[in-house]
Amino acid sequence: MAQTATHASDFLVIGSGIAGLFFALQASKHGSVTVLTKKERAESNTNYAQGGISAVLAPDDSFESHINDTIIAGAGLCNEEAVRITVEEAPEVIRELIDFGTRFTRNGRKLDLGREGGHSHHRIVHAHDLTGREIERALLSALSKKKNVVLMEHSMVVELITEHHSIDAHPVSQPTCYGVYAFNNGTKNVERFFASVTMLASGGCGQVYAHTTNPLIATGDGIAMAYRAGATIANMEFIQFHPTTLYHPQSKSFLISEAVRGFGAVLRNSAGERFMEKYDARLELAPRDVVARSIDTELKRRGDACVFLDLSHLSAKKVREHFPNIHATCLTFGIDITRNLIPVVPAAHYCCGGVQTDLNGATSITNLYACGEVSCTGLHGANRLASNSLLEGVVFANRAIAHISSQRFPRMSKSRIARYSGRFTPWDDSGTRNPEEWVLLEHDRKEIQTVMWDYVGIVRSDLRLRRAVRRINLIRSEIEQFYKRTTVSEELLELRNLATVAWLIIESARKRKESRGLHYMSDYPEPKDSWVRDTVLSVGNR
Ligand code: FAD
Ligand code: SIN
Repeated sequence: MAQTATHASDFLVIGSGIAGLFFALQASKHGSVTVLTKKERAESNTNYAQGGISAVLAPDDSFESHINDTIIAGAGLCNEEAVRITVEEAPEVIRELIDFGTRFTRNGRKLDLGREGGHSHHRIVHAHDLTGREIERALLSALSKKKNVVLMEHSMVVELITEHHSIDAHPVSQPTCYGVYAFNNGTKNVERFFASVTMLASGGCGQVYAHTTNPLIATGDGIAMAYRAGATIANMEFIQFHPTTLYHPQSKSFLISEAVRGFGAVLRNSAGERFMEKYDARLELAPRDVVARSIDTELKRRGDACVFLDLSHLSAKKVREHFPNIHATCLTFGIDITRNLIPVVPAAHYCCGGVQTDLNGATSITNLYACGEVSCTGLHGANRLASNSLLEGVVFANRAIAHISSQRFPRMSKSRIARYSGRFTPWDDSGTRNPEEWVLLEHDRKEIQTVMWDYVGIVRSDLRLRRAVRRINLIRSEIEQFYKRTTVSEELLELRNLATVAWLIIESARKRKESRGLHYMSDYPEPKDSWVRDTVLSVGNR
């Protein structure tokens, strides 16, 4: 067994997107903080967020209107308390983001407010079309000034440490989290990190699908490891497909923000028809599930590979001003968005489900909190309203730290560290080896992504889900066997997590025998009153 490092801090944060960074900044007022992130510090879904962050700030807008829009999108499954809290705390967290140095786009002295699908008012605060990048920049810069915060890049969390890892391992009905094991990609060792409180802020799982707006980091690690540790996972069937990503062989599903439709762009099919007129009175600004399904139907009906976004009737100057990144990126593919139609298709974008939390971000595992896309707080229900995700990450990071600091939580004293070090053994990799069969990992990853895209996509059926679960079960058991005898690597850990998350999505989808929000089943095309409840999964309770 290799001798590996042991670390300890009062707070341990997994992930350096908006949720993790915001929590770390607030937690640093109460104790020492370690942030672990598996790649470079800014690499996160947050960094690619375009449209913005929603908040009621316009004089003609109201909390009731934002609440109502969120609940309509959520199709009967939102936790109304979570919605009210998030909406009412939004203006304050925008102020806090600005105080941490975020430079949002202004119209004169006032914040410029955009509009997106499902919102009945202009309420999207943004930094042109690079909102996430600006937020990451500001939060990372603020964090770098904190003396009691350590941020470790290329540190990939493998497992949450619970009683299961103790030398006197015995089953417990209510696990406690004592920290994590994390793979150091520099030394190639798995190290121990102990903490009083662990915050899971590891983001979403878009990479489980063949086509996604999410960067490569989004492999659902946090959801998979929390599930393995015994946490309750909820509503994984609700995967949001963004209606408009660039259809181009080299573009890897580059997002064309919903804000572009909010600005007046229209959708056309290959015959030039504005087809949304046939599907929904809200046209291009209907909620995402409606627009994505309408595009899917149109593509299948016409046998086309893509539909088109048309901005040619809008002021070219204003389009360039509002969407500099989209304009420049499309130009690299030979598309001038002020004149040419943009070919677009839907792609997996956001996971509405995740690790279930209460209204303070606490999970079902003691001392483990979750916030951001990894969590299921009840805000989104069966479908997330545009730009409510960045918002949720900040609101629940704030609520978690307020809750934790209002209690007497034990600090990581020397004696506590010594106790934990004796109780939880270092990572044991004896008997594992590097089998040099890495091609299998790449193949399995692609197979999972294809199965999920083909059978667990925008439109599902009992038959497709049965096929999917058979295939994923086989891949999962092969990966588990491979994992047990193989030295840890990032690729293997991600693959194992992707397989678990794929299974959680399918299993949740198989349970819900109705259509609701993002979960559309051709066998049961209508919602059912008896199904107004969360789908929950936990180890030993399927
Ligand atoms: P992330 O920002 O994804 O951060 C997760 C972090 O965890 C990363 O640092 C990652 O490296 C780290 N991590 C993951 N696994 C591990 C591990 N095992 N060990 C250590 N670290 C780990 N939402 C909006 O509200 N408005 C928008 O305009 C918007 N636009 C979007 C555009 C795009 C292209 C995408 C992909 C998403 C968009 N979203 C938007 C959604 C939103 O960006 C995300 O839901 C949100 O940023 C999630 O933040 P997070 O902090 O929870 O996770
Ligand atoms: C977008 O800009 O279209 C993404 C907004 C979101 O995901 O909320």
